[in-house]
Amino acid sequence: MEKPLEGSVALVTGAGRGIGRSIALTLAAAGARVALAARSIAQLQAVQQEIIAAGGEAACFPTDIAQEAQVVRLVAATVEHFGQLDIVVNNAGVGFFVPLEHTSVEQWDYMMAVNARGPFLICREALPHLRRSTHPFIVNISSVVGLKGYANQAGYSASKHALLGMTKALAREVQAEGIRVHAICPGGVDTDLISQARPDLDRSDLMKPEEIAEIVLFLVTRRGNAVIDEVDVRRRSATPWG
Ligand SMILES: NC(=O)c1ccc[n+]([C@@H]2O[C@H](COP(=O)([O-])OP(=O)(O)OC[C@H]3O[C@@H](n4cnc5c(N)ncnc54)[C@H](OP(=O)(O)O)[C@@H]3O)[C@@H](O)[C@H]2O)c1
Repeated sequence: MEKPLEGSVALVTGAGRGIGRSIALTLAAAGARVALAARSIAQLQAVQQEIIAAGGEAACFPTDIAQEAQVVRLVAATVEHFGQLDIVVNNAGVGFFVPLEHTSVEQWDYMMAVNARGPFLICREALPHLRRSTHPFIVNISSVVGLKGYANQAGYSASKHALLGMTKALAREVQAEGIRVHAICPGGVDTDLISQARPDLDRSDLMKPEEIAEIVLFLVTRRGNAVIDEVDVRRRSATPWG
């Protein structure tokens, strides 16, 4: 049976666990060859094995996206390995969930470096390769806190607002070239990160990583004239304003 992403190459950051792992598995199951990036090599290898066991193809690229030289190497190595790049998913993210007055400069800078500057660098390096693709996509995983503010999340929220702003500007910048740039803004998803950010939430009430991966797959398989700028997705029990 033909798979919708057969012939495509996807780069997924933060692919070792949580939402990124699900995105990598889902894109691979749809036929994409996947470059897996994060810092923990053991987690990347575990995901690579899952993909291979399911009949897919993936390669591991241990990378700290806060380091410019490592991002440059990641994109170059992906293209060198697979020969092309069609889909970029900027999913890697970190958070320090403390009151603003207890946030250190190091914590603030690190959230901005990973959540906003990392995706900027990856987009910058990927664009020349995406221009050669027949179906080029960038999907940036922002957050509901890229739209709103929550207590104890000032730095995290600022970094996710920055990512969303960059996404909107880039979407217009490369629209005429046919490169589609999307943002997804999820509410609570059941991962390691949410248990630090919102220990008050009932885990059984959270969205599953697979639900975000399904949205990514939907976006990167669009072939028509419609362009979806942003997908806001929240828990069933969360109010639109809460
Ligand atoms: N869970 C939620 O409720 C939720 C809601 C909205 C948005 N998000 C966003 O969704 C994305 C995925 O989050 P998650 O919940 O799946 O978190 P997670 O389970 O903690 O996974 C985060 C991933 O990012 C990677 N990462 C962190 N720092 C990195 C760095 N400097 N360089 C490269 N990779 C790095 C981690 O791997 P290493 O540590 O091995 O590097 C890991 O693979 C994040 O951008 C997060 O902000 C999550």
